[in-house]
Amino acid sequence: MSRIGLDNPETDPSIDESPFADLPEPLILPVPTMLDNFQTVNILAPLVRCSKLPFRHLCSLYETHVNTTPMILAEEFSRSQIARTSDFSTSTDERGVYWMEPRYSAVSSGSSIHPEDRVSKSYHVSPAHTRLPPTAEAPTKHSVLVRGALIAQFASPNGKSLADAAELISPYVDGLDLNCGCPQKWAYNEGIGCALLRKPELVRDMVRTVKDRMGWNWPVSIKIRVDPDLQNTDTLVKSALQAGVSHITIHGRTRHQASTEPVDLEAIKFAVECARGEVPTVANGDLWDLEDARKMRETGVKGVMAARGLLANPALFAGYDKTPQHAVEQFVNVSLDYGFIFPLFHRHLAYMLESHFSRAEKTWFNSLSSTVSTVDYLASRGIDFSSSRSTIWDARRGRTVLRI
Ligand SMILES: Cc1cc2nc3c(=O)[nH]c(=O)nc-3n(C[C@H](O)[C@H](O)[C@H](O)COP(=O)(O)O)c2cc1C
Repeated sequence: MSRIGLDNPETDPSIDESPFADLPEPLILPVPTMLDNFQTVNILAPLVRCSKLPFRHLCSLYETHVNTTPMILAEEFSRSQIARTSDFSTSTDERGVYWMEPRYSAVSSGSSIHPEDRVSKSYHVSPAHTRLPPTAEAPTKHSVLVRGALIAQFASPNGKSLADAAELISPYVDGLDLNCGCPQKWAYNEGIGCALLRKPELVRDMVRTVKDRMGWNWPVSIKIRVDPDLQNTDTLVKSALQAGVSHITIHGRTRHQASTEPVDLEAIKFAVECARGEVPTVANGDLWDLEDARKMRETGVKGVMAARGLLANPALFAGYDKTPQHAVEQFVNVSLDYGFIFPLFHRHLAYMLESHFSRAEKTWFNSLSSTVSTVDYLASRGIDFSSSRSTIWDARRGRTVLRI
């Protein structure tokens, strides 16, 4: 039987650890400050059942700077410990550390970022972490070391539940996102998700209620879909601005459009203009490679968010055109470390390996019914996760730079 990598490899003396010794402390910034100050901010979309801790950690190894939890029902979360345990888990190491390129040269020293735009000491500053950037050397002389962020997404039909949930989760996350886009019928009937798209006053009240409870600087964002009548998008965005929303993510499809329909970049651009630069905006929809990300940025957004693109290739933002083998190895390792239920572990691997497998291999892979059989199958296919275990990766070059 193949080994499943439970032993810690010896430190390789040929690997030089010293370049990392003198790195500055990474800046810890609220997400809107990151969006405003850095050229490229890459975000993992909220994904029910999928953007859970092991997958978020994996994406964080490959230049995904901000991760989002799956949509959590605020009412359940705030009243049930069982819901909290099953809906949310995190670790001190899930946020990565990145070299980021400032939009303005003055940002390089970090000193131009106003103290009020930094994370308030009274809110979440994660304890010491062991993450390092992918390279010890700054890619350019302006690069700034920045810690990644985690946003919790909630669905709620009222402000009180949302504020209760925000209060409970705030020690562990860097902000809250209100889901205004879930198109499913059950959600619409519950008055959550896209049922909020045409209730701008309610969205305004909900954002304000959270701000009143958590403090004006605590980031509260919304994720919306565009409306077939863009006037409604304008009203919604302006109401959110009045409430003090911190940033707005725009999915460029209406609630009636399936994900197979192309995303409407013009509609995203319209929504960006509605925000009048008062808060940063993020575009979402059909981001499969860095060229899609570049086109999205032309709409005027400051950040880009991918969902299915990252499921298919978690290393997308690090410039890989399909899932590299080391990402599969890292995924197996983080999943075994954190513990990941088999159906989700298996489903993520199926998404990631889709473009690598022949039809017969897919059929075989889909028939696997346990973590052990899946791990054995991958080992038989040359996936060498045991020797890449407990390593920090240079995600751009895909090689081990340091063993811990
Ligand atoms: C499996 C799956 C789960 C999703 N769960 C959520 C969710 O929890 N909250 C949310 O706002 N959107 C959710 N979405 C929508 C995505 O966040 C995203 O807006 C949509 O897939 C469009 O992005 P894409 O074209 O990059 O996939 C989900 C999408 C998928 C495929």
